[in-house]
Amino acid sequence: MDISTTLKEYSERFNQTLPSYFTFSQGQERRVIEAMSYSIMNGGKRLRPFLVYHTAKLFGISFEQSINTAVALECLHSYSLIHDDLPAMDNDDLRRGKPTCHKAFDEATAILAGDGLLTYAFELLSQERTHPNATIRTELISALAKGAGAYEGMVAGQMLDLLAEKNKATLEPETLIKHIEEMKTGQLISFACLAGAILGQASSQQRLALQQYSRGIGIAFQITDDILDVIGDQTLMGKTLGKDQNQGKITFVSLYGLEKAKTVATDLIKQAQQALEIFGNQAETLKALAQFILNRDH
Ligand code: IPE
Ligand code: IPE
Ligand code: MG
Ligand code: MG
Ligand code: MG
Repeated sequence: MDISTTLKEYSERFNQTLPSYFTFSQGQERRVIEAMSYSIMNGGKRLRPFLVYHTAKLFGISFEQSINTAVALECLHSYSLIHDDLPAMDNDDLRRGKPTCHKAFDEATAILAGDGLLTYAFELLSQERTHPNATIRTELISALAKGAGAYEGMVAGQMLDLLAEKNKATLEPETLIKHIEEMKTGQLISFACLAGAILGQASSQQRLALQQYSRGIGIAFQITDDILDVIGDQTLMGKTLGKDQNQGKITFVSLYGLEKAKTVATDLIKQAQQALEIFGNQAETLKALAQFILNRDH
């Protein structure tokens, strides 16, 4: 079976489970739940949940045993997209083929919907359904907080991304861009794989291998996002393209050009695949996913 089909099948199953996580209260405050649910339902590739499941699966963990963690991560990712699209950040009108949250609702509701999804992610991880062992749940909570946070995580990467756009970042461009891409995108992708290792109680050698894999695919994923911003098809991507250049973003493409950016991504993907050798042919799906990340058109 090819990887696009495997990913599609997983995302269909994931999408069927998702509504059970979003019940609507009766009061007027339900508007924020509606905005959260609007932003997370359908449209996304579900790449991060897929990674949680397939890394955990290496250790015999099932879809059901990994779903709470997978949903928590997708909530966090969806919050990051809602805020990324706000007028004060990237000012985007289109996301996942639909009007962005602040366009469909309003700016204040979009800010709150982001806050709601961010908070909900940690509520989900704390539930017994995530894993019966409280130490494992705490480890997941701590790892997601770090990956999403302001020190080495997604928020730090977003800050640098915005500073670089206004030429206020002081690092030299090559170091800066690696730093931005690793933090704003790489860290949540790394969490996805680390979560699988935590749920599966992987050995330190197995964790290291997954860490190397996730680092490679994480940066490569953002490089392909930057490439697709220039040469992608807007309908397939479901978001406005050509924005990076318009907004003066620093990306691998703005720094090296399309061809070299692709070479850097190709090398990262090869290294990521090599890191999985210790899992033998059990890691075929994860290797194929790495290839998908490189060759993707959406
Ligand atoms: C978009 O992520 C934001 C980046 C980190 C580049 P995805 O390309 O995974 O977006 P969805 O979840 O499929 O919409
Ligand atoms: C965003 O990177 C990464 C996030 C943390 C959301 P981009 O700004 O390039 O993502 P898109 O292109 O809007 O999806
Ligand atoms: Mg951005
Ligand atoms: Mg953006
Ligand atoms: Mg982008």
